Amino acid sequence: MRSILKSAAALGLVAVIGTSLLTGVDTLTADRIAAQERRVILEQLGQIIPREYDNSLLEDRIVFNDDDHFPKGQLVTAYRARLNKQPVAVVLKFNAVNGYNGNISLLAGINFDGTLRGVRVISHKETPGLGDAIEVEKSNWINSFEGKSLKRPEPALWTVKRDGGSFDQFTGATITPRAVVDAVRLALEYFETNRQFLFEAAADPSRSSAP
Ligand SMILES: Cc1cc2nc3c(=O)[nH]c(=O)nc-3n(C[C@H](O)[C@H](O)[C@H](O)COP(=O)(O)O)c2cc1C
Repeated sequence: MRSILKSAAALGLVAVIGTSLLTGVDTLTADRIAAQERRVILEQLGQIIPREYDNSLLEDRIVFNDDDHFPKGQLVTAYRARLNKQPVAVVLKFNAVNGYNGNISLLAGINFDGTLRGVRVISHKETPGLGDAIEVEKSNWINSFEGKSLKRPEPALWTVKRDGGSFDQFTGATITPRAVVDAVRLALEYFETNRQFLFEAAADPSRSSAP
């Protein structure tokens, strides 16, 4: 009886240690992924918004959802840039949901007047050599958003040339750029009707959006 109890106790101990180790590894991995994402976002934010602000973008952020403009229940993060407490620009982090291979995670920097500072891709699963020309490292295409707004070009032209719009598609790959252009247009439309909320909502730096 005593040896059965001993074995049971030993087994229990092994299970507890194993579970703790796994939980520890999980936490470490999650921390590492979060740190990596933070690094990428800071780097990309720096490319979109050069230092014309005096607040901390990463701290001055809100998280929200709006299925009409950011579909599939995604959480959107807005990083607010301010100078002397006056709003300068906002960078929205959201997903284009109609990529060839699923979500394309994007950052779009929008000036207070509604013009685009720039767009960057944080992560995607599009096909190398076809859809990955959305990366700034692979082609200049993503820079074509700079300076654009819902007035320039007009909303009807906010799609790829194949669909009668003004944005280039890639050779043999229209789905990826179409998804990005559509998502950025929706983000601009959201900005236009929710500018006040975006800049005035209380910061909530403890929350962040899903990748
Ligand atoms: C294996 C494979 C991978 C593909 N990857 C992509 C992709 O990442 N992005 C994309 O837009 N199209 C991709 N395509 C092509 C699409 O299926 C589709 O044909 C194309 O986007 C339509 O563009 P087009 O009208 O210019 O031909 C891929 C096709 C195949 C067979």
